[in-house]
Amino acid sequence: MTDISLRRADPARIDADAVVIGVMRAADGAPAPAPGAEAIDAALDGRLTATLTQLGATGKSGEHHRIATFGATTAPQIVAVGLGDAPRTRRASLDSEQIRRAAGVALRELAGTSHVALALPTSNQGVRPIAEGALLGAYSFQRYRNASKPDHRDPVEIITVVTDDARSAEAKKALARAQIVADAVCAVRDLVNTPPSDLHPKEFAGFASRLANENNLDIEILDERQLKRQGYGGIIGVGQGSINPPRLVRLAYSRPRAKKTIALVGKGITFDSGGLSLKPTASMDWMKSDMGGAAAIVLATAAVAQLKLNVNVTAWAPLAENMPSGSAQRPSDVLTIYGGKTVEVLNTDAEGRLVLADALVRASEEQPDLIIDAATLTGAQLVALGSHTSAVMGNDDELRDAVVDAAKRAGEQMWPMPLPPELRKSLDSQVADIANIGDSFGGMLVAGTFLQDFVGKQDSGQPIPWAHLDIAGPAFNQGDPYGYTPKGGTGAAVATLIQLAEDLASR
Ligand code: BES
Ligand code: MN
Ligand code: ZN
Repeated sequence: MTDISLRRADPARIDADAVVIGVMRAADGAPAPAPGAEAIDAALDGRLTATLTQLGATGKSGEHHRIATFGATTAPQIVAVGLGDAPRTRRASLDSEQIRRAAGVALRELAGTSHVALALPTSNQGVRPIAEGALLGAYSFQRYRNASKPDHRDPVEIITVVTDDARSAEAKKALARAQIVADAVCAVRDLVNTPPSDLHPKEFAGFASRLANENNLDIEILDERQLKRQGYGGIIGVGQGSINPPRLVRLAYSRPRAKKTIALVGKGITFDSGGLSLKPTASMDWMKSDMGGAAAIVLATAAVAQLKLNVNVTAWAPLAENMPSGSAQRPSDVLTIYGGKTVEVLNTDAEGRLVLADALVRASEEQPDLIIDAATLTGAQLVALGSHTSAVMGNDDELRDAVVDAAKRAGEQMWPMPLPPELRKSLDSQVADIANIGDSFGGMLVAGTFLQDFVGKQDSGQPIPWAHLDIAGPAFNQGDPYGYTPKGGTGAAVATLIQLAEDLASR
């Protein structure tokens, strides 16, 4: 585990293995050392800008250069990381995401080093983005390495954030918060990266149960017999092809005097082979990430408890393994979702919406003030928005926009998408109340439209405000690492859900 602390110190005199400074891109394209780097520049006799120019630094985001200091600073090396464009005016400050990503780049680059000090700008949101980016960038998943372990650099052990405010209550609080958020994100990454042979529905539920004990949360786990008896046809239908039976987890954090109750619902397909509508081999290994939504909502709930937020949160994780076998559901089977609506399963690979349907109806029964679901739901999400930007849909524009806004502050890329009412008729079934696939154009919106049918009503008769996050691409990074995001599991949606809970708690 990485240890992080704040310190008021001269970065040129700090006893670390490396000191990280920021470089911005000035209007003329030249590299400009960022606030925090002054003492380093002085220790180098004012030659920092010239050195950076010689090294070819431009201040572009993602860039990093190492400078050996030969005794001019206590640390033997300086790592200069790009922050992107300098603020246009004196009053403007750097975007906190620029700082978060730069800290992440530095910590990834410095893997194998033991103690790293960060002398980055603290003008925007103070130490929060520095600490978050550093902790997230220091992540690495080594649990399954034996023989090849020595070939991989260990994550940085000690991080010191250099700031004049090291003693302020505000900075200490920001650091504690950053640690909670980063721990939650990294735990989601671990769950996503864990091979599906070690994370069946039962093991996932076991994880949730340990998390509940550690954080004093209520937990209820329904097993396959209870699910069948109580009419959870979607979860049972998807799970019936696997020898590893499904589960439904309900996790709750309650504050007696809280004014609002948030229901979180997360898709928890521990492995999605497609079922009898089998996926091609090439895209199948990716499907160990198909429980990324469930992991996100469960860890967001634990984080809300750790932050002691004044809001109630109930998390619902429908967990199943989607496998082909003699007992698997068939295309053309009809399932009865919890509450009675029937679904004709025309494609067993559109399974996420089936387990979510059960969970959305069940979550609605408790009459929460709002429902947010997170799901690696469609390949169409990648077509629409690419692999880094999640989609936000829903039945309430205000809530949808509040999620997008929370994402921006949390450092996640999310974008609002519509649920055009005319898409609903493409989901009409010949035999049942609704079919599980419809128009292939706008497939992400069709999936969202399917889910909308299962969101319940408030006592007033109005639908419960609901937002749906399709995180199919962002949950798992198939490409190169960037910023504080590693290859593999990313922890998508957690930081946004925590931010949103904070926003609602403080209202
Ligand atoms: N889990 C997949 C969606 C997915 C695709 C997630 C790529 C991450 C990366 C989902 O269960 C699925 O298979 N969706 C189908 C739906 C289709 C059959 C209507 C899809 O998107 O192809
Ligand atoms: Mn599928
Ligand atoms: Zn799936």
